[in-house]
Amino acid sequence: MFSNKDILRFANLETPFYYYDLNLLQTTLTSCAEAAKLYNFHVHYAMKANFNASLLQQIKAIGFGADCVSGGEVNEAIQTGFAKEQIVFAGVGKSDKEINLALDQDIFCFNVESVQELEVINELAGKKGKKARVAIRINPNVDAHTHHNITTGLDENKFGVNSWDLSACAEVLRASANLEFIGIHFHIGSQITNLDVYKNLCVRVNEFAFWFEERGFPVKVLNVGGGLGIDYHNPDQQVPDFGSYFKIFSEFLEIKPGQEVHFELGRALVGQSASLISRVLYVKNGKKKNFVILDAGMTELMRPALYQAYHKIENLTRGSEVALKYDIVGPICESTDCFGKEVEQPETFRGDLFAIRSAGAYGEVMASKYNLRDEIRSVYSEEV
Ligand code: LLP
Repeated sequence: MFSNKDILRFANLETPFYYYDLNLLQTTLTSCAEAAKLYNFHVHYAMKANFNASLLQQIKAIGFGADCVSGGEVNEAIQTGFAKEQIVFAGVGKSDKEINLALDQDIFCFNVESVQELEVINELAGKKGKKARVAIRINPNVDAHTHHNITTGLDENKFGVNSWDLSACAEVLRASANLEFIGIHFHIGSQITNLDVYKNLCVRVNEFAFWFEERGFPVKVLNVGGGLGIDYHNPDQQVPDFGSYFKIFSEFLEIKPGQEVHFELGRALVGQSASLISRVLYVKNGKKKNFVILDAGMTELMRPALYQAYHKIENLTRGSEVALKYDIVGPICESTDCFGKEVEQPETFRGDLFAIRSAGAYGEVMASKYNLRDEIRSVYSEEV
């Protein structure tokens, strides 16, 4: 929801830009931190959702750790001031350079995704005379019931160690002097809105924890990943229900004394805190279709083109009285450069301001320079 003051301010700014509501971000972070505290759960922010520096500062300040998927993210987390002992590092393809960097930084834990990766980390840690803390990322074959492009926990996905490889993992762990096994890790997908999915995950986590314990590997950390979805259809209903989410894990996980439960939330923390603000360049009234051509495109927000993702689109200049249907498109030379088809809008004119809502997660960070576009800019609510 934008105030008249916001809209007046936008009218004087060059478009397109991401507009970040830092107050909403704070409310969301506080809500999550308070809900997690009830159960003593640990939250790592999944940096891949958005590594905008202002957001990272705010997220660090609330006391969350960082979940990284590249050497670049590990570096950025450390530079931002995230505590090293709260940094975890996942990814199916960690390069030697990235592993060495993370070893040098003494991060909390590598979430290891294959038997071979275990061997490589053992070898590289040995060369440095270090012991690397590792958790095994297990692919639990649990359906996240989300878009297939953002499902990660099924047998056919590339992520994690499949159950049939766990014995090989256990053997390598036993034989590796430079590895310290601390726990198990899962991440089954993103934009999960059916919370029952997490009950199924908990059942599998309990089974795998038992599997390791039975073989003499104490499981100190249960890291259940992230994936909690947001309501893209109601962007004004802004703070996800962290209470119900954490409650499921407290009820369905068999948490042993001394065991820690870790989460890696991305979208749920930052998703509703930003909109992409854009101006109408042209309106083309065709025979079959009316097109609104914006000055933002898939180069600024790729999700609709990549996953046919829905984002609510609002004409900020004309209010909400629906008059016509438009295809809302960008200026990029690709037919998939479309934010929405047949979207009901008030009659629209060149120069109108549009907001594409719920763009705080996987928006700015997935922007590209395709077509040699200008780098996307950010504007913050604080500056009002
Ligand atoms: N942990 C791991 C190991 C992950 O791979 C991810 C996301 C997360 C945590 C955080 O998931 P979240 O809480 O944000 O759902 N670009 C896609 C989403 C890709 C998610 C990749 N992994 C999109 O725009 O929908």
